[in-house]
Amino acid sequence: MIQGGPPLHGEVAISGAKNAAVAIIPAALMVDGVCRLENLPQISDVEMLLTILRELGAGIRHIDKSTVEIDCTDVHFQDAPFELMRKIRASYYLIGAMLGRFGTAKTTMPGGCNFGVRPIDQHIKGMTALGASVLVENGFIYANAGENGLVGAKIYLDKVSVGATMNIMLAACMAKGKTVIENAAREPHIVDLANFLNSMGADIRGAGTDSIRINGVTRLHGGTYTIIPDQIEAGTFMCAAAATGGEVLVKNVIPRHLECISAKLRECGATVEEYGDAVLVRRTGRLRSTNIKTQPYPGFPTDMQPMMGVLLCLAEGTSVISEGIYDNRFKYMDELRRMGAEVQVDGRTAIIEGVGGFHGTNVRACDLRAGAAVVVAGLCAEGKTLVEDIHYIERGYEDFVGKLSGLGADIRRVTDCDPVHGCAAIFCD
Ligand code: EPU
Repeated sequence: MIQGGPPLHGEVAISGAKNAAVAIIPAALMVDGVCRLENLPQISDVEMLLTILRELGAGIRHIDKSTVEIDCTDVHFQDAPFELMRKIRASYYLIGAMLGRFGTAKTTMPGGCNFGVRPIDQHIKGMTALGASVLVENGFIYANAGENGLVGAKIYLDKVSVGATMNIMLAACMAKGKTVIENAAREPHIVDLANFLNSMGADIRGAGTDSIRINGVTRLHGGTYTIIPDQIEAGTFMCAAAATGGEVLVKNVIPRHLECISAKLRECGATVEEYGDAVLVRRTGRLRSTNIKTQPYPGFPTDMQPMMGVLLCLAEGTSVISEGIYDNRFKYMDELRRMGAEVQVDGRTAIIEGVGGFHGTNVRACDLRAGAAVVVAGLCAEGKTLVEDIHYIERGYEDFVGKLSGLGADIRRVTDCDPVHGCAAIFCD
C-alpha cells in the first residue's frame, strides 16, 4: 500500500546481483569443496535455489544475512526436485551444472514470465555441440554426456542469450579440451559467473566480449567469492529518484554498469553524478521525453524498460520505446493506464504521451520488473495505490519496501508470504 507524493531523499545500499547469484548458486554444485558466497541478495529466487541444492544433498550454512557457505562435495546424481525447479526460470542452470558434475541431468523445462515465447534451443545447441544427447519430452529435459564425457567445441550462438552463454560456460568448464562460444552475451553477470568459476580453478577467458574461450579443467576447488551489485536494482532506485523528483545516493554499485541508464536519465532531465562506488540522482525540473530501444548489454537493458516506461509516462511530450528482446513486455502498461497513463502499444513498440501525473488505484504486479514499475508509479501518484501479487517483486528485490521507506516513501506491506513455499507465483524471471 503506497501513499504517493513524497519525493525520495537519502541513501540506499544496493544488494548483490540476482542474475549473477542465480547462476553462481547452481555453479557451486560443480565445486569439490566449500564455496563461500558473499553479497548474496536476500530474495526468494536465491532461497529457492538454495533449497533445491539442499534437497540434492548439499550442505548449506548461512553465515550472516548475505553470506552463505555451500558444500556440494558429497552430492550424488539424482533427479532435481521438480516442483521447486518449475517455480524458477534460472533452474535451467542446473542442466549445465549437473552435466558438468555428473555427466547427466534431468530437470523440468523452465517457464518464464509471459514476455512471449522463451525457447532454450540455444542452450540445447551448446550442450549438444559438447557431445551431450539432449531430449525434451513431456516438459522434462534429459541430458547425457555418454561414456566419453563432454568434449570442448566451437559454438556459435544464433541469438545473443544470457542464459545459453552461462549454461554452456558451466557445462564446458570441466569438459575435455577447449570450448569457444561465439556471439556470446556480454552482461556484467556473465563476467561475474566467469570470475566465480575462475576463482574456483576454471580457465575461462574473454567473458564480457562476444567470444569466450574455455579450457576444460578436471576439478573445481572451494573458495570465497563476492557477487557484484545488482545493475537493475540500482537502476530501479535511480528511476524512482528521478520519477519522484527527489535526490538519492545509490550506494554499493559499479557506475560503469549503469552508464546506459544514467545516459537516459540525463536525457530525461535528471542529474546523475558518478562516484567510485555510488551514483547520485537528482531531479528538480520537468521530466523530458526520450526514445528507448532495449538491446543486449551494453545496450539499454530490457529489465529496466518498465521502470523507464513509468518515467516517460510522466515526461513532457511523446516518447517511443522499442523492445528489442521480448515479444510481449508491455503488459504493465495496462496497469499504468489504470493510473492515468496515455500509451499505445503495438507489438514491440509503445508510444507514450506524457501526462501531468498518475492517480492511485488497485494495480497488479504482472511480473518482477513490471511489479517494481507499478510501485514506482504509486510513489508518484496522487492518493493511494494498492499493488497486488508482490511475491513477484520479492523474487528479485531485497527488502524493497524497507529500502523505499528508508528514503521517505509512505509504503507498507499489508500481507505476508512464505518466500519458498507460500507464493502462488511461478516462473517469474
Ligand atoms: N532465446 C532464444 N533461444 C534460447 C535462449 C534465448 O530464442 O535458447 C531468446 C529469448 O526468447 C529472448 C532472447 O533470446 O528473446 C534473450 O533471452 P536470454 O536467453 O538472454 O534471456 P534469459 O537467459 O532467459 C535472462 C534474465 C532475464 C533478462 C534476460 C535478458 C535470468 C535468470 N534472467 O533471461 O531477467 O531479461 O536475461 O537480459 O538471468 C529479470 O531479471 O527480470 C529477467 C527477466
